[in-house]
Amino acid sequence: MKELFISDLANYENQVVTGFFAMSARYDRSKRDGARYFALTLTDRTGQIEARMWETSEAGEFASGDVVKVRGEVCRYKEFLQLNVEKIRRANPGEFELGDYVPRTERDIDQLWAELNRYVESFTDSYLKALLRAFLDDPETAAALREAPAAKSMHHAWIGGLLEHIVSLLGFADLAANHYGVHRDLLLTGVVLHDIGKLQELHWGTSFNYTVEGHLLGHITIGIGLIERKIAAIPGFPPGLRMLVEHLVLSHHGKYEFGSPKLPMIPEALLLHYLDDIDAKMQTLRSEFARHATAGRAAGEVTDWVRSLERPLLNTAPFLGMDGEPETDQDQKTELSEEASNDVSVED
Ligand SMILES: [Fe+2]
Ligand SMILES: [Fe+2]
Repeated sequence: MKELFISDLANYENQVVTGFFAMSARYDRSKRDGARYFALTLTDRTGQIEARMWETSEAGEFASGDVVKVRGEVCRYKEFLQLNVEKIRRANPGEFELGDYVPRTERDIDQLWAELNRYVESFTDSYLKALLRAFLDDPETAAALREAPAAKSMHHAWIGGLLEHIVSLLGFADLAANHYGVHRDLLLTGVVLHDIGKLQELHWGTSFNYTVEGHLLGHITIGIGLIERKIAAIPGFPPGLRMLVEHLVLSHHGKYEFGSPKLPMIPEALLLHYLDDIDAKMQTLRSEFARHATAGRAAGEVTDWVRSLERPLLNTAPFLGMDGEPETDQDQKTELSEEASNDVSVED
């Protein structure tokens, strides 16, 4: 149904296009002469683009979160593509399918779910296995975990992003647990549960936002509440083990200034924090390279400043002209695109 995607706009520079997009932000601003204009952010499942509407008399009714029909010229402003909107109106319900507007994982969600369950089945600690089963066998939690993004706008900010992040981390943490001889099931439990509070911290529709609970409590506090309720229903769950699981969640942001109420004090918590940070940053790299390409820039060039990492980036393979390299298993697992802008540790 949707014919024009944001990832296609680079092909239409200096041309007028018409298409449907989700509007994730609308700001009403004034020019120096006092005339009103709109600063808009348009998105679909392939990316996002900034848009400006300088002459607002042709604007119909529309609000942030709507899918809108837009006519405008694809321009370039400070090296980025931007849409100069001539006409805009809210789309009618029959004119769009939501799946075209919300970014989602490129991986198969059933396959990710099966991988997650295989890891849990491999546990030797019966209490930790029972704890994770209590989450995964709860139909409401399972449905949310199969859909939830991992963040509002940073790494893995797409439908299925949290599950994808967890499965990526499980493979990485399994190797690290073996390498350092730490408590594997405890570390893997931390991987699965560290961001479980995001199921209630975030709301996902045409855009991703914080819930009131997310704003007021945050995912660490929410997660601890969820874990305590599940553990209370498991007879004989050892109190010391409960404390360690909670410590993993409480300390996973690693530093007080990143929202962690505690610093990681056990080997599994230290590993969880760094592995989580690496997985988020590696996804940021992939997303920035994808964004660079969407903006119509050459793949072998240095990207613009990446705020979350406080540096520009360079993609090795295209820079060295290594196109046509055989794809690795890890590439397939994580070949994705989306944005990640801000310190990935802060709100991860
Ligand atoms: Fe994470
Ligand atoms: Fe987190």
